[in-house]
Amino acid sequence: MIKICGTGSALPTKRVTNDDLAQIMDTSDEWISSRTGIRARHLAVEETTSGLSVDAAKQALTEAGIEPDELDLIIAATLSPDHVLPTLACEVQAALGATQAVAFDLHAACSGFLFAMNTAVAYLNSGVYQNALIIGAETLSKMMDWTDRGTCVLFGDGAGAAVLRRLPDEDGAGILAYVQHSDGVRGGVLSCAGRPLVNPYVSHEAGHPYVEMDGQAVYRFAVGTVPRVVTEVVEQAGLTLPDIDHFVLHQANSRIIEAVAKRLHQPMEKFPMNLQECGNISAASVPILLDSLNKNGMIKRNEYIVLAGFGAGLTWGAALIQW
Ligand code: ACO
Repeated sequence: MIKICGTGSALPTKRVTNDDLAQIMDTSDEWISSRTGIRARHLAVEETTSGLSVDAAKQALTEAGIEPDELDLIIAATLSPDHVLPTLACEVQAALGATQAVAFDLHAACSGFLFAMNTAVAYLNSGVYQNALIIGAETLSKMMDWTDRGTCVLFGDGAGAAVLRRLPDEDGAGILAYVQHSDGVRGGVLSCAGRPLVNPYVSHEAGHPYVEMDGQAVYRFAVGTVPRVVTEVVEQAGLTLPDIDHFVLHQANSRIIEAVAKRLHQPMEKFPMNLQECGNISAASVPILLDSLNKNGMIKRNEYIVLAGFGAGLTWGAALIQW
């Protein structure tokens, strides 16, 4: 059975409230919090995506009780690495001294941590590897157009990590099921241009190098697909929705989470949130929330937890864990 044996997270020191943003742009706490639930976010000043990742990873390794050189696999999910090359996962591998691990990045935007976890589970289940470190980490503040108040107020920076191990099946607990989906046809609703093609034979103009989104289309996508993917993973595990103790969803917007809870006919108490304090941290939001639930003793042994992510691509996925 594949088990989550340790978690960790790290946020930048600088905390920026909605009122702080109202000092530098035409917005208000009332507008942001009433539409999204977000009241503050942490933004990198001294921190980097790799530095936050290493902090989170060390905590996860300590809780798991394994040394970096026992890791076989490191997968880092990010859309905002410090460099194009080398990859974030290799930077983390070097900083940890995880000399035996194969390390690579995986980009599935806000679904990244779920897709990284599902990929690691497939490797571990196949018997190829035993111990994996998975990371969701972002410094999204550098991906924002800070003159576009419709997007920049929504996002934050941070990192979360988990150590997954293939262990003898004693009690049936562990990662019980996972599902993932993509729909590139609808990808235009959340976009960010890459580098233009420029070489001795061609010179394309640069596109908009910051995150752009059709907020209402993203809202409809999330509210439509998340209840379906949650139901799918619960059915795949042979359980029912009332069996689930916690739904740990991607922290994009409290209205999305409330709408999902309503469609699933489940009480809001089962839907923990940290977006009030963190904003949307894309691939990092699910592992940071999972770590705070773990550290604060909010999840008990054998409880059922659904993790679900959704985001650009479009991509969406879920996993069901018995803790
Ligand atoms: N402060 C004040 N006014 C603002 C701000 C702001 N920060 N941003 C936009 N406005 C104004 C607009 O200019 C517009 O003014 P106008 O009517 O005079 O033109 C008005 O507010 C309404 O703008 P809309 O974009 O239509 O606002 P909407 O009610 O759709 O809310 C929001 C925007 C919160 C983004 C909403 O669409 C939403 O929740 N979408 C979900 C998308 C999401 O959460 N994305 C996260 C990233 S994607 C992911 O993680 C998967």
